[in-house]
Amino acid sequence: MTNLIDGRAIAERVYVDLRREIAELKSKGVTPGLAVVLVGDDPASRSYVRSKDKMSRELGIHSVKLELPASTTQSDLLGRVEELNRDSAVHGILVQSPPPKQIDEGAIVCALDPRKDVDGFHPENVAKLALDDTSGFVPCTPLGVQRLLIESKIDIDGAHVVVLGRSMIVGKPLALLLMQKTKGGNATVTVVHSRSKNLEAITRSADILIAAIGRAEFVKAGHVRDGAVVVDVGINRVDDAANQRGYRLVGDVAFDEVSKKAAAITPVPGGVGPMTIAMLMSNTVKAARQSIQT
Ligand SMILES: NC(=O)c1ccc[n+]([C@@H]2O[C@H](COP(=O)([O-])OP(=O)(O)OC[C@H]3O[C@@H](n4cnc5c(N)ncnc54)[C@H](OP(=O)(O)O)[C@@H]3O)[C@@H](O)[C@H]2O)c1
Repeated sequence: MTNLIDGRAIAERVYVDLRREIAELKSKGVTPGLAVVLVGDDPASRSYVRSKDKMSRELGIHSVKLELPASTTQSDLLGRVEELNRDSAVHGILVQSPPPKQIDEGAIVCALDPRKDVDGFHPENVAKLALDDTSGFVPCTPLGVQRLLIESKIDIDGAHVVVLGRSMIVGKPLALLLMQKTKGGNATVTVVHSRSKNLEAITRSADILIAAIGRAEFVKAGHVRDGAVVVDVGINRVDDAANQRGYRLVGDVAFDEVSKKAAAITPVPGGVGPMTIAMLMSNTVKAARQSIQT
């Protein structure tokens, strides 16, 4: 029988541990702080920022929500980032993506203090991930996928993991993370993307198949071998007149047919999504802990 991997329940368990750790830090006089910077008024970005702020507050993390107008210039934003870098009450900084066109996102990421880069996109943190240096920050979605697998007692060590997608946000860091010589790593990782040949034959050889391509229900039963574990990172809107909102959210995996073959599978929503925000909170607590260790 297929096992449904419940991301919400696993995220709740992460929060139990984080609450304990936050209380310990507070007893030492340190309140973890997270600053989330939103430039412009993209509705999806606004909603992500709201959830991050709400979750920080629920956990007792000091939350700074900086909302800047869409006309903000590169130098204004760099100035704000530098202020947050200097602010000792802020341990984690995140600039919500995507920013407006006039902003050079790469330059903003490079301006972050890497010790506060809780999104894990600063080159220093990317290098640490590649070097198996666990003091760095790993991007939240890959970290959430790894945690889901560990908490679900799925053996990563020695497994053939196929990652579908090679973005810098999900696919590439996930591949690096799962092949690290550390706990939760040691997988044999294959990455496939839009230029891969024989994609279906490769995905069918996976013990663990992770889809992160942003194509609604792309992964069909034919892509999956019987008994594989399937993790669906995708979040795609598809029109649905029967739904109140006029759309529904689906993953990159055709859930109904694939769940009949998989040993375990994540749903969308309620799989990887809740873990991403839990890992942001976890990275913020790690940054606060490291701030008193150095
Ligand atoms: N659950 C969460 O918290 C969370 C977080 C982040 C993203 N997501 C979702 O995850 C999905 C992927 O996000 P992303 O930021 O990684 O996307 P992205 O930057 O657009 O990257 C997509 C990757 O998939 C590959 N790809 C696209 N179409 C393909 C095809 N037909 N066959 C094989 N490979 C294909 C692309 O290949 P090329 O490199 O060759 O172009 C690229 O490497 C999206 O649905 C996004 O909404 C969810």
